[in-house]
Amino acid sequence: MTKSPTLHKRTLLAATLLAGVLALPGTALAQSPIVIKFSHVVAEQTPKGQAALKFKEVAEKKLPGKVQVQVFPSSQLFGDAKELEAVLLGDVQFIAPSLSKFDRYTKKIQVFDLPFLFDDIDAVDRFQSSPAGKGLLTSMTSRGLLGLGYWHNGMKQLSTNKDKLVLPEDVKGLKFRIQASDVLEAQFRALGANPQKMAFAEVYQALQTGVVDGQENTWSNIYSQKFYEVQKTIAETNHGLIDYMVVTNAKWWDGLPPDVKKGLTEAMDEATAYGNKLASDINAADKQKIADAGKAKIQKLSKQDVAVWRKAMEPVWKQFEGGIGRDLIDSALKSNQ
Ligand code: LMR
Repeated sequence: MTKSPTLHKRTLLAATLLAGVLALPGTALAQSPIVIKFSHVVAEQTPKGQAALKFKEVAEKKLPGKVQVQVFPSSQLFGDAKELEAVLLGDVQFIAPSLSKFDRYTKKIQVFDLPFLFDDIDAVDRFQSSPAGKGLLTSMTSRGLLGLGYWHNGMKQLSTNKDKLVLPEDVKGLKFRIQASDVLEAQFRALGANPQKMAFAEVYQALQTGVVDGQENTWSNIYSQKFYEVQKTIAETNHGLIDYMVVTNAKWWDGLPPDVKKGLTEAMDEATAYGNKLASDINAADKQKIADAGKAKIQKLSKQDVAVWRKAMEPVWKQFEGGIGRDLIDSALKSNQ
């Protein structure tokens, strides 16, 4: 049976209408929210975990129906090995790796890894807010990454599976997990220890099974990952920093409608202020919880002990000064005053 002319006309009309709807901007289809995936590697109760949730809350409030932010904590979506690549490929839109993990994209950011560079987190904050610090946010745009802000975690402590951890001689020959950073590799070599680059999600098991003897991290990471359950001593060295840069895909960001860009920038600023205020409190509380658990001993160090660690790590500065730039190191040092 052949199609009746009326039926044929109706089919044509329906097809024409559908094509029109698909082509028209501003239709129901074009109005679906922009989905923003935010992937990170730590637990939700940490400073970064809390700041990411705050960003979601504020962004969705400021841009109702326009954006939907999905936060994936604890390496659920992408771990250390893949998250930077995932942003560049557009598989996620936001990540916040620690500043130690940008080695491959710029040598300048290595400044943050120099041992004993900053006196405390307030000095870090002053440097990040300075023109030199802010300049680093756009230092990777030619590689496709745009920094939108710095988020604090805090100062690093050193832990091992040994009873004695007071001086550098106590770590000689031990294996340490490090983040993917050449500066941190040099730091442990300067101590006569053996560094091993490893993704964050693998650290607990590596410590538990003795693949490595120790690691360096903030109180909040040591607590939330339960490292204190598989380490004997945590020395309060405060020898370095774990902070983050929130980065996005520069091209994707440039293509956003102006109102969305504005709303997201404001949400980022609010989340940054919120998380950065919380970070010290979370780390102090987690240190107390580790002490209360009574599993790992917290080793306090005297000023003299700290000076010995500082001296042992000193050669690292000279080794990386060329790539980082002396001017940047000087700007960072100025923030201690
Ligand atoms: C680590 O790998 O130890 C940290 O950078 C994890 C994090 O994101 O705090």
